[in-house]
Amino acid sequence: MKNRPEWLSNAVFYEIYPQSFKDTDGDGIGNIKGITEKLPYIRDLGCNAIWMNPCFDSPFGDAGYDVSDYYKVAPRYGTNEDLEELFAEAHKLGMHVLLDLVPGHTSWKHPWFLQSMKATANEYTDRYIWTDSVWEEAPGYGSLRGISDRDGSCIVNFFTHQPALNYGFYKPNRPWQQPMDSKGALATRNAMKDVMAFWLSKGCDGFRVDMAGSLVKNDEDGKGTIALWQDVRSFLNEKFPEAVLVSEWGEPDKSIEGGFHMDFLLHFGPSHYNDLFRCEKPFFGGEGDASAFVEKYLESYNKATGNGLICIPSGNHDMDRLARTISGEHAKMAFAFLLSMPGAPFLYYGDEIGMRYVENLTSVEGGYGRTGSRSPMQWDASVGAGFSEAPAEKFYIPLDPDSKRPNVEAQLADRNSLINEVKKLIRIRQAHEALRNEGGIRFVCDGAKGKPLAYYRSSAGEQILVVINPTVEAYPVPLETGAGELLYCLGNKPAIGEGTCVIPAGSVCFLKVC
Ligand code: NOJ
Repeated sequence: MKNRPEWLSNAVFYEIYPQSFKDTDGDGIGNIKGITEKLPYIRDLGCNAIWMNPCFDSPFGDAGYDVSDYYKVAPRYGTNEDLEELFAEAHKLGMHVLLDLVPGHTSWKHPWFLQSMKATANEYTDRYIWTDSVWEEAPGYGSLRGISDRDGSCIVNFFTHQPALNYGFYKPNRPWQQPMDSKGALATRNAMKDVMAFWLSKGCDGFRVDMAGSLVKNDEDGKGTIALWQDVRSFLNEKFPEAVLVSEWGEPDKSIEGGFHMDFLLHFGPSHYNDLFRCEKPFFGGEGDASAFVEKYLESYNKATGNGLICIPSGNHDMDRLARTISGEHAKMAFAFLLSMPGAPFLYYGDEIGMRYVENLTSVEGGYGRTGSRSPMQWDASVGAGFSEAPAEKFYIPLDPDSKRPNVEAQLADRNSLINEVKKLIRIRQAHEALRNEGGIRFVCDGAKGKPLAYYRSSAGEQILVVINPTVEAYPVPLETGAGELLYCLGNKPAIGEGTCVIPAGSVCFLKVC
């Protein structure tokens, strides 16, 4: 059963890391007014939806994934009113905005945690997961210990300053492990529903949900977490039926059953995503092998089809920039793939101009190795790259120091630039139902070493053969029906013969077939 808001079927997302996008008040850090100012740019690129990384009050030990107030925009980004204005302006342009919901943990500075640390019982005693004694750690989890009057260790979810909220245990097996329907676990769930309702009522269109699959503990098959999200979905269906949920889960059979509309293909776990873009010999670099990816992708696709969509990102704030391994014409090929696959594509800010991973940066806000992928957006060739008027030493992450760093203005003026190719590809995708998010896919060549990737995309009225050949040899792909219009071509044109489409080395084609 398909149950998605209409706009998702043709959505192309742009991920914004708010601190690095556009600074309008000269303090060296991006803000919400900056994002609003740049909405026409994003729309012009062809993207019609945004995922914004967390923008709530936080001590920023993990770039805002350590929330200290779910109801308040962090002052460095502006005000709640600024965010409401962003929603309204986006809607005027026909765009939608997803916020980043972090339901699994808070900052250790969150008032709920400060109360939960107290030795005397209070409303928040069971908001987090505590063992009964500071000497007992929760098996299999990291913990915070010895920081409170309360005698216990508190489970953490990611960094040690991110205590895990209590949604209960699927199979409790210690006295301190509460079941999912315990009073404390249900109170946490309701508190998160309140947060969602608050922002949805202000005009946000839904959420990308951080670590969505790990809320319920001792839940190996995900059954408890699925049930929890089903309950959240029923709540939303009643009050905000149009609210979109996208999960950071990476297991569409579970996330979609839980009521998510879409799930991400993750860069960790079994997906083989990195084989394509980020490994020693990535497929789009020309020497790699995409076959393990295709096999895994099809497994997920078959599980999600008809119900949900799998989203393939160009990158994100947690992984190396695409340009660290793929550049030039090969980057265009990678985008031809990303923008011709089913599921909503996600473009990470700056990838459209091939922004580089900035090497050797000291970690900022818990970024560590991720910091190099989070540097300020490069809008133009000015000293501050059009990101900020602040002096360089005030930039919260330094700009790419390379004098030839790419920028939006120069690339827009260059017909052969990456950004213009990305724009063209989005236009073609959005004009053809078969290429959009819900069109079907059937692979005819799996990109095994030395071979191209080739697949048919289809909708009720249309079939399009996509062939991407980053290798150094031409390759004959079987053509099952007659060839029609060549919708897109990068590099040399394919030679279309009786029953074959010979794709030249280093080229891409989208061929309508009849
Ligand atoms: C996934 C987020 O994408 C990442 O940036 C964050 O550090 C962890 N979850 C913890 O919230």
